[in-house]
Amino acid sequence: MKNWKVNSWRNYPVKHIPTYDDEKELNNVLNKLKTFPPLVFAGETRHLKEQLAKVVDGKAFLLQGGDCAESFAEFHPDNIRDTFKVILQMALVMTYSASVPIVKLGRIAGQFSKPRSAPTEKIGDKELPSYLGDNINAIDFTEKARRYDPKRMFKAYSQSASTLNLLRAFSKGGFADLNKVHLWNLDYIRKSPQAKKFKDLEDKIADALAFMDACGITSDFNNRMYTVNFWTSHEALHLPFEECMTRVDSTTGEYHDTSAHFVWIGDRTRQLDGGHVEFCKGIENPIGIKCGPTSKPDEIAKICEVLNPKNEKGKITLISRYGHQNVEKFLPKLIRGIKKEGLNVVWSCDPMHGNTIKSTSGFKTRPFNDVVKEVKNVFGVHQSEGSYAGGLHVEMTGQDVTECTGGARKISDADLSSRYHTHCDPRLNSDQALELAFLISDEIKKNTSYSKNAIQAAS
Ligand code: PEP
Ligand code: CO
Repeated sequence: MKNWKVNSWRNYPVKHIPTYDDEKELNNVLNKLKTFPPLVFAGETRHLKEQLAKVVDGKAFLLQGGDCAESFAEFHPDNIRDTFKVILQMALVMTYSASVPIVKLGRIAGQFSKPRSAPTEKIGDKELPSYLGDNINAIDFTEKARRYDPKRMFKAYSQSASTLNLLRAFSKGGFADLNKVHLWNLDYIRKSPQAKKFKDLEDKIADALAFMDACGITSDFNNRMYTVNFWTSHEALHLPFEECMTRVDSTTGEYHDTSAHFVWIGDRTRQLDGGHVEFCKGIENPIGIKCGPTSKPDEIAKICEVLNPKNEKGKITLISRYGHQNVEKFLPKLIRGIKKEGLNVVWSCDPMHGNTIKSTSGFKTRPFNDVVKEVKNVFGVHQSEGSYAGGLHVEMTGQDVTECTGGARKISDADLSSRYHTHCDPRLNSDQALELAFLISDEIKKNTSYSKNAIQAAS
């Protein structure tokens, strides 16, 4: 790419990147990071792009999920395992009922920096810089904690590396074996309203496996039954860090951001003439673009063209996040704008970020019903526009938190304070995440058969 360099984004206006007070200290950290090993390998990223190309063609479905913001405090092997388990369970529910492969992508192993609505936070008379994510500053409301500390990037790198290491072990080491589905159940889901439904699914899978076993098809013979492909993603917000992790792939000479397989540009940083789009222009990774109510279809189409001049399938995922009541108003126009230009994209739905409200008890929350409504409305619009709703992007955790209201356990406003642990936005707990998977799997099925019919009718 002509004129593009890993640092050319520095010549463009950027939003939501902190100004550090000690530039020398910052540069020391960045120079050191440049010498650290890549977190992911270019070949894995290419493989993900191939899978996403299948999503574009309606032959697979993307499930992207994890914390809004990973934190140093919640870093624990059990938390990684439990988030991984819930993603596997959601994927299993969807695969089984919709009969499509699910591309599993964690918002994990690097999802630290956050864009905030205000640069400072005021409590009483005291005003301090806002919390920007654990790789930038700490959440406690003290001057010391809120200082932008470049050394936190080392800790974030190290946490990402160990998280990835464990995820790779789980994905390839036998934990994801279909014969072990019953072990994925989290203790507290066993007692939940989803347990019976998941148990029924386990039984059906066990029957299918017994049949295959009798035919001689076992995990000993077929590696795919024993392992799972799992990729990582985060918002490419903190460009100084992303720049350091961007390396030339020695096999192709192309640039890859090796901090994750997939990165996305947030709704607040997707300016066509801004540094975030400039940075993403030069990397080979598949890229997500968040599209909220302020996004203009022609602008989004232009961003797609700039990031994906060859219109390669699997390169771009548009993640709509309008809020359940706004989907019909905005999404059809975006779909038509993208279709008009003949652009290949994965259409994913983030039903979280447009449905955040302040509860009467003062917590930021998301009513589960609104989340479900947004997904259903998105599926409905894609069906009437003749496009394929190919993905779901959720903020969720494997922990038994009380951050989003509603769901089968009917979490109320008053319950929120009991286990509200998020460092940023409210997440679905594992019960709600699984319930969502059950609720939308019929939609995925309808959508898949609908798009198959549309493709057949067109050919
Ligand atoms: C996010 O995904 O955490 C986020 C900040 O989303 P958006 O850019 O859509 O607001
Ligand atoms: Co969020």
